[in-house]
Amino acid sequence: MDNSAMCTFGPSGSTLVFAVEFSLFQSTENAMTKLTIENLFHRELEVHDLSKSLLHHLHSHGVDWMHSCGAKGRCTTCKAIVVSGLQHLNAPTAPELRYRQEGLLRENERLACQATLQDDVCIRVPESGKLPHVQYSP
Ligand code: FES
Repeated sequence: MDNSAMCTFGPSGSTLVFAVEFSLFQSTENAMTKLTIENLFHRELEVHDLSKSLLHHLHSHGVDWMHSCGAKGRCTTCKAIVVSGLQHLNAPTAPELRYRQEGLLRENERLACQATLQDDVCIRVPESGKLPHVQYSP
């Protein structure tokens, strides 16, 4: 597909020609993707701003998700198990890499406050992150 246009104007016999190139860049704020929580009855959240963390999206959709350090990557209480779409998440952040080295975060786990998504992702609430007042599905 051609991503440019050329316009010609000719008032009073003169001709002005210019070309405009359109960027194929897709704004991360206008994209839409899906975040599914498997053991919360496969609840699906529509995500529009891909620059925000999983934790932000969970909270903005009213999902009660454990977090103890104010989303600063200083605890692991916001841990999420990634069921599918691990490749659609950002690279692990420095705190996540440190927790992996310490054996506190597995390869298929991410901190919800550190991870952002670029396409559909399905996660689970780990046993350690389950809240007593929330009902979970298998
Ligand atoms: S809320 Fe503490 S690491 Fe995410």
